Amino acid sequence: MENDRTRNPFDLRDWLKKADEMGQLRIANGADLKYEIGTITEINAAKAGPAIIFDQISGYPEGYRILTGSMLNAETFGMTLGIDGTMGNIELVDRVAEILRNVATESKNYPMEYVEDGPVMENKLVGDDVDLNAIPVPLWHELDGGAYMGTGTWQVHQDPDTGWVNLGTYRVQRFGKNIAGNYISPGHHGHIIRQKYWDRGEPCPVVMCFGAHPLFYLMGSSDVPSGVDELTWAGAIAGKRVPVIKGPVTGLPIPADCEIAVEGYAYPDGTMLEGPFGEFTGYYGGGEKQEHVVQVKALYFRNQPILLGSPPNRPPNDMSYQFTVMRSAAIKEALSKAGVPDVKSVWVAEAGGGRMWIVTSIKQRYAGHAAQAAAIACNCQAGALMSKYSIVVDDDIDPSKMDEVIWAICTRTNPVDDIDILRQCWSNPLETMITTEDKREGKLYISKAIINACRPYHKIHEFAPVSQSSEKLLKETLDKWGFLFK
Ligand SMILES: Cc1cc2nc3c(=O)[nH]c(=O)nc-3n(C[C@H](O)[C@H](O)[C@H](O)COP(=O)(O)O)c2cc1C
Repeated sequence: MENDRTRNPFDLRDWLKKADEMGQLRIANGADLKYEIGTITEINAAKAGPAIIFDQISGYPEGYRILTGSMLNAETFGMTLGIDGTMGNIELVDRVAEILRNVATESKNYPMEYVEDGPVMENKLVGDDVDLNAIPVPLWHELDGGAYMGTGTWQVHQDPDTGWVNLGTYRVQRFGKNIAGNYISPGHHGHIIRQKYWDRGEPCPVVMCFGAHPLFYLMGSSDVPSGVDELTWAGAIAGKRVPVIKGPVTGLPIPADCEIAVEGYAYPDGTMLEGPFGEFTGYYGGGEKQEHVVQVKALYFRNQPILLGSPPNRPPNDMSYQFTVMRSAAIKEALSKAGVPDVKSVWVAEAGGGRMWIVTSIKQRYAGHAAQAAAIACNCQAGALMSKYSIVVDDDIDPSKMDEVIWAICTRTNPVDDIDILRQCWSNPLETMITTEDKREGKLYISKAIINACRPYHKIHEFAPVSQSSEKLLKETLDKWGFLFK
């Protein structure tokens, strides 16, 4: 499209213009940082609404803004990835899976591009001048332990052994002027890389970004395999190398067009009480506990900066749709890479936080095909963490339609035969069913149920026929009588 060529694919402000043109942007002036912005965001997310810009925030100059609801529906989600047109969820997942497949090979052609300067450096607060209070940050939920600056956020870590640059979305609590609380769950790449620095006796350098084009947030919050540099993926998706500035303090890359970024260090002995925080499971499950903090050495922001907020809470929430679509696509891709044939579609329900309930539909080709698909779906990198139910259904079932999935479970399973349990699987402290005592002892395991809701393969042709009009009969009837249903 003509217009798009004039747009910067990494600039949030260009993203906002496009959202506005699509009728997917609302402005809310004067909402309160204490709970009001959070509650508006929660109501909007439950309705899969448009993006909302909060401006005229008390105590801050006009133009210091907060954006939420950036990817609550197929239109805004698709636009973020450069997908045009209206489509249903399953088609969107297929398009995203296709993008992920291409990007895996294309990304090598899109290394970061180092530039000298960029909008993010319009304002710099360095050393003793750092003050995170310069940016308006909501108290999102009533029981939160503080203001969470990092929700639609992502941070940059660099592996000291290999030089690999990782993007990860990990929540960030603001502790005063220059300290940021940082919960990173065990097994996540930021956690592994941080530990490598500490094992060498060095502080871990980090860049945290708090506002940018949502594509970066999408990349940071996607469970891509270890060794993948998400900045090159963002470049391959946008068809343009990501311009980055070498951070003056840490040397880490800072995307030049982002709105707000900090540089700092995490030290092995630096912890503070972090949380509670309303989490993606729909609970304050992690509670309040000691977590590592980042000592912030520099804060950079654009004139009239925009914080990207994406607070979790009981799903569906501000982050669950994007989590669901990305994870569904990533699992579909992983099944294909693992050699599982004829996977029709995958849907990871928003009600399960976009993690816990995975449904895979397949065209069964051999005995054991269904169990193979379900076991891999919930244990590939994208589907492993905190997943609890992996359901496999035949290809006549749309996995995103709960009524169809429940019907398949009710009519194509015998619970004693068709439910298997995997024990001691990958979980984390946010899991509500792990006791506080077990969390303290590091027993961060959960079991998973595999539900085979496909017709038994060995008698698939003898299975009772479905009592529903054939497609041909439905079409003929609707052609004649469709006016009754308008
Ligand atoms: C809004 C939002 C908040 C998140 N918060 C955290 C968090 O606080 N800690 C964490 O470890 N993962 C969090 N995640 C999940 C990770 O971002 C996600 O699993 C990501 O793939 C991790 O990146 P990594 O695999 O490179 O470590 C969050 C995701 C979203 C969308």
